[in-house]
Amino acid sequence: MTSTGMIGLSASDLVAQLSISQKVALCLGADNWRTAPVPEAGIESVMVSDGPHGLRKQPGEFLAPGLPATCFPTASALGSCWDAALVREVGAALGAEARAQDVAVILGPGANIKRSPLCGRNFEYFSEDPCLAGQLAAAMVDGIQSQHVGACVKHFAANNQETDRLRVSAELDERTLREIYLSVFERVVSTARPWVVMSAYNKINGEYAWRNRWLLTEVLRDEWGFDGVVMSDWGSVQDRVAALAAGLDLEMPPNFGISDRAVTEAIANGTLAESVLDEAVARVVRLVLRSRDRRPAELDAAAHHALARRAAAASIVLLKNDAGALPLSDEPGLTVAVIGEFARRPSYQGVGSSAVTPLHVDVPLDELARALPSATIRFSPGYPLGHSEADKEAAGTLADEALRAAEGADVIIMVFGLPPGSEVEHIDRSHIDLPAAQTDLLRRLAGNENATPVVAVLFNGSVIRTSTWDDCTSAVLECWLAGQAAGSALADVLTGIVNPSGRLAETIPLRLEDAPSYLNFPGEEGHVRYGEGVFVGYRGYDAAARSIAYPFGHGLSYTQFEYRGLTVSTDGAGGLAVTCTVANIGGRAGHEVVQLYVGDLKSRVRRPPRELKAFSRIYLEPGIAREISFTVTARDLSYWSPSRGRWVLEPGEFRVDVGASSRDIRLAQHITIESPGSS
Ligand code: GLC
Repeated sequence: MTSTGMIGLSASDLVAQLSISQKVALCLGADNWRTAPVPEAGIESVMVSDGPHGLRKQPGEFLAPGLPATCFPTASALGSCWDAALVREVGAALGAEARAQDVAVILGPGANIKRSPLCGRNFEYFSEDPCLAGQLAAAMVDGIQSQHVGACVKHFAANNQETDRLRVSAELDERTLREIYLSVFERVVSTARPWVVMSAYNKINGEYAWRNRWLLTEVLRDEWGFDGVVMSDWGSVQDRVAALAAGLDLEMPPNFGISDRAVTEAIANGTLAESVLDEAVARVVRLVLRSRDRRPAELDAAAHHALARRAAAASIVLLKNDAGALPLSDEPGLTVAVIGEFARRPSYQGVGSSAVTPLHVDVPLDELARALPSATIRFSPGYPLGHSEADKEAAGTLADEALRAAEGADVIIMVFGLPPGSEVEHIDRSHIDLPAAQTDLLRRLAGNENATPVVAVLFNGSVIRTSTWDDCTSAVLECWLAGQAAGSALADVLTGIVNPSGRLAETIPLRLEDAPSYLNFPGEEGHVRYGEGVFVGYRGYDAAARSIAYPFGHGLSYTQFEYRGLTVSTDGAGGLAVTCTVANIGGRAGHEVVQLYVGDLKSRVRRPPRELKAFSRIYLEPGIAREISFTVTARDLSYWSPSRGRWVLEPGEFRVDVGASSRDIRLAQHITIESPGSS
């Protein structure tokens, strides 16, 4: 079928034929999940569904569990793979599942910056850094839309907390907005061209996102060239006329009897120009027309599960590995004590609109037994998952049983996690600690007289404090919330079938109080001030020269890499060309994530010591070296000048750092950048 309605008619032609009431119907949804049909004009309804890491097609009432679908790794995990091609593959699989379930738009990816570790939806977001988050979110959009299914990047913008999310005003200066919180969406819109952008619930400097004309029209459309549909977050619109005037095309779900009446009256009394309504309706109709290129597909559950496993394994971060405690080798006589309820009941996604009904869930304990057939595996739950009085009473017994199970083992695998319901839409966390029952047990297990090595495995969707307990571990694996195949991915990494290559997309601080946003989160009395400005995440920790537990970009491998031969040259247009060589000097093949940071050594504004500008995940066999090339543009090196209302590249000296993390810089060089065009 052609991408027009009635044969040959374009969206605007179709709109020209519609009555006011038909147009008003089209700028509201038909119900929780569908756009409105206008059969007499040949315009059908299309369906939208969550979510960012798997399809949640709702067969019936709102917030009921969705139809079964593949639960891929959440963004908290994918953010750690630093591999746009892999994220694009996951996006394409998500899009294929939408085709199989006749869904036209997937409500994802989430592209908000992780401003504080406490944000309850951080598991749905990629990173504290806009370069990494933007590239991965764009890859996800690309993948989804390669299936002629629309992606809906969300929540635009500055939705970085759940506390008071329907009303809170994010107060931030334009430089912080532009350089950090908008730049992720700008990268996604300009490189991946999402069909839909979802406006956020919150205000930005006092104006709700859903009625913020500066945001939705002047920036998103006029500056960035966005030509798709702006859709509201669910139930956020309180004034449909104001939202239309700001550039919000589709209210979801429809506020029947109020929004339709208000728009009809506004058109009749001239307070809203019909042309504004026509533009919005044309964009909704264009979404319907472009959805017609989508073809049905069969769900390949086995292939998608295998992809989910590969993506989860690539996202696992080896934080620590003393004395080569890992990988485990499958030897007869090896006794492995697996301690922790999460080894039996894995934690693989968060709570809320993104929740997927998985087609299958790999159990870590079973997968580890499968990967170590010659070993003896002992299991003990170790700690309660709940915190009722009965749970507290059971904790002592469970701990004693775990200690007995660990006696005489060659290695102890302790599986930690945030209790169910810890990472939830609508709710922020109040601390970043694991339950004491888990960390107390760890200390007791590590105190065994045989000094049996303890490997800690974490399942959590946002940063937790490791500094109070990781000293008594030999190795730590951060698995994040890694989807239905997390169990098999973990077994693959623990046993070396997969060489870990995940890198932190979010700094792990020594304590929550060190976080740059700490004193300004989650705000009060309806306001949250982004007092740290651009110094979010590693930008802030570095500017304050603060010690941290594990830095942004950190992650170990079972092999070692060497960096050499850095070259940096200017391109005469204010940008840089950077090359270096990386070699695998260890004994096994593996991926390295080569990270390029740049710092402006002297500037009229306060700038972070270094900011990620590019990265490359490469695979090297032992003994192999490869040259890597990066391009950095003048815009990449610029800052936003509020006084001049534009991006500014100040000529002068910059420092180029290439390394294995933001604090493991292997190569560095200063370079002077002249005024663009002056050399
Ligand atoms: C929720 C979420 C949004 C989701 C939508 C539909 O409130 O904020 O991410 O896509 O409603 O479930």
